[in-house]
Amino acid sequence: MRGIVQADVDPMTPPILSTSDLTVRFGGHVAVDAVTCAFNAGELTAIVGPNGAGKTTYFNLISGQIPATSGSVFLRGQEITGRSVAQRTRAGIGRAFQLTSLFPNLSVLENVRLVAQSKADQGFNLWSMASKHTELTQAAEQILSRVRLLDQAAQVVSELSHGDQRKLEVALLIALGPAVYMFDEPTAGMSVDEAPVVLDLIADLKAHSDRTILLVEHKMDVIAKLADRIIVLHNGALAADGDPATVMASDVVQEAYMGRELEDV
Ligand SMILES: Nc1ncnc2c1ncn2[C@@H]1O[C@H](COP(=O)(O)OP(=O)(O)OP(=O)(O)O)[C@@H](O)[C@H]1O
Ligand SMILES: [Mg+2]
Repeated sequence: MRGIVQADVDPMTPPILSTSDLTVRFGGHVAVDAVTCAFNAGELTAIVGPNGAGKTTYFNLISGQIPATSGSVFLRGQEITGRSVAQRTRAGIGRAFQLTSLFPNLSVLENVRLVAQSKADQGFNLWSMASKHTELTQAAEQILSRVRLLDQAAQVVSELSHGDQRKLEVALLIALGPAVYMFDEPTAGMSVDEAPVVLDLIADLKAHSDRTILLVEHKMDVIAKLADRIIVLHNGALAADGDPATVMASDVVQEAYMGRELEDV
């Protein structure tokens, strides 16, 4: 691609997450092509690009769902490329869908409480466990109230509607409290009533934490509202990276992306 816009990287502030020449090939097809990019704390980066551009695959490489063909992933400067999904989750990578079906036969509340409990990492002490149990239940209820799922607290997860399952994913992610939140089209398949709940939550996460948020999203109005920065993937490669106004106005987006997107909006 020509006309790459590249964001300034402050050499004094180490990025929370970065990828270096990250590449994956499926047979002859390069789905993610030498992507070098750094993400800073407190920044919400929207990742855009046409269908098949490699956005989900880039997420898969960061969260460890698939192994990279070459290149590296770093979390707080430490290389995590060879680590498992579970190890990356413990280290601070929080990807929504990995948590969806944690305990499908337990209730909504129990799922959130278990994630909060694993986060609290309490020792085996029966007396403190009893008081912690109440604290964790309250914390879980508070999170469910934020995602407007309190009325469904007792419901078994496998019986939730699609929209409620997506909200639960966000609830579990909030309970986990990762350093990096990764959302891949979080409102896909949601009704027009439900989508704003999730988008407001992401806005809330951004406003009230210094966490890093990566958001794959097709809807330009959502991106315009939430993103501090946009990166564009095209044919697996990083085609643009910068502040939303600059990237939206760049030739690369106007030609490769906006044409299709404007039709969608
Ligand atoms: N496991 C796989 N095996 C083979 N090819 C794959 C695999 N995963 C993804 N691909 C291919 O890699 C390319 C990138 O796909 P990806 O799903 O990352 O795109 P995307 O940007 O998320 O698209 P969309 O906007 O439709 O979600 C596509 O050509 C896809 O067919
Ligand atoms: Mg995708």
